[in-house]
Amino acid sequence: MTDTIAEPLTHPAAPAEPLSYGSYLEVPELLTLQRPRTDAHDEMLFIITHQAIELWFSCALHELEGVRDALQDERFGAARRGLRRLNRVASLWLGHLDVLATMTPAGFNEFRGALGESSGFQSVQFREVEMVSGLRDRRYLNLPGATVAERERLLSRFHEPNLNDVFTQVLRHRGLTCEDLFAPGRSEEELRDTAEDLLEYDAFFHRWRYQHWLLVARALGTRPGSGGSSGSEFLRSTLDKWFFPELHEARSHVHATPAEERDTGSGGETVYGCPMGYGSELSA
Ligand code: HEM
Repeated sequence: MTDTIAEPLTHPAAPAEPLSYGSYLEVPELLTLQRPRTDAHDEMLFIITHQAIELWFSCALHELEGVRDALQDERFGAARRGLRRLNRVASLWLGHLDVLATMTPAGFNEFRGALGESSGFQSVQFREVEMVSGLRDRRYLNLPGATVAERERLLSRFHEPNLNDVFTQVLRHRGLTCEDLFAPGRSEEELRDTAEDLLEYDAFFHRWRYQHWLLVARALGTRPGSGGSSGSEFLRSTLDKWFFPELHEARSHVHATPAEERDTGSGGETVYGCPMGYGSELSA
């Protein structure tokens, strides 16, 4: 037997200066990253709002991965705690857009020309959030403006299981369908509560799409976007995107009596790509 003498634990890269609030959070570096390209007063708000939402996208991705892993292992308590946090994060995106809505179209026009062809459409993290949540759309794999590393990240997200896949797998594993979850008298409480949290997340995300669309319609009217789309008209067409369409669809059957089922055929008719019929109100 050989005697080993324990070495004292030292951090190899211990900083010479004691850690401070500013050095730990890298505040000085952070504050060099807001660089308006014009003298327009509102450009600072525009930059900070986008950067803040990007930071929260990063936080959301972290939480989404945790929720997905917990669901995969059927740890529903952990999955629901993660979803609760995720939903609070998603609610913050709305608050950020609210602040930006104080900018008038004239204020926006003062610096709009400096944006060139850059657009939120090119946000890589936004596409990652969409993919990890439940939307797989090949068209975003070649996102304009993305670096090689970012395209690789998108490709790997595209092939990862997303929240919708994992939840559906858990149901299948237990021999259940989405309809079973909401059927009266069923006892899968933890699964049903998790489904409600997922639907709440879907609703928050949808509210972001809707509020962003309103903001854009107000700032641009019917003018095209800097990313080359038709602008608010294009964004309106994204309002029928949902992460958990089967869960929405299943709710159409919750309180259906046999008579209702007879009247509406199979029930749950898909309108404007959205099983809950929200789209029909918007397109009215
Ligand atoms: C006055 C403020 C804003 C205007 C006028 C605006 C305008 C637009 C327009 C016109 C598009 C469609 C693509 C294009 O042609 O450019 C778009 C897409 C997008 N914008 Fe904004 N935007 C604003 C604020 C924001 C903010 C604060 C964020 C937060 C990160 C954001 C994120 C996005 C994202 C993620 C998309 C892609 C949406 C999708 O494809 O579903 N935008 N924006």
